Amino acid sequence: MSDLVKVCSESELGENEALRVDVAGTAVAVVKDAAGAIFAIGDTCTHGDISLSEGFVEGDTLECWAHGSKFELKTGKPLNFPAYEPVPVFAVSVVDGDVFVDPTPRTPESL
Ligand code: FES
Repeated sequence: MSDLVKVCSESELGENEALRVDVAGTAVAVVKDAAGAIFAIGDTCTHGDISLSEGFVEGDTLECWAHGSKFELKTGKPLNFPAYEPVPVFAVSVVDGDVFVDPTPRTPESL
């Protein structure tokens, strides 16, 4: 628990919205999907220096507003070009209404 970083309270997260937070110096998008599940995914698009939290939550993906690549919230994999490299994802815990993120990045291969 001591490595986890408190990033926000659950009530700050709107459904199908992304919130940009800092996790140990890394920009991370914290996303709540339509089912209420919370994900943490690297905030910087791998195609350009664009903040993914300024994009769109679409089902189980976060879409970059610049050129439309969609990244899977669970794995960070891009589902369409032009991005072809995944963004990291991070483990999330919710304790007493607070959202914590594990700063250790996970890749699709490590999931
Ligand atoms: S900068 Fe994100 S798809 Fe191009």
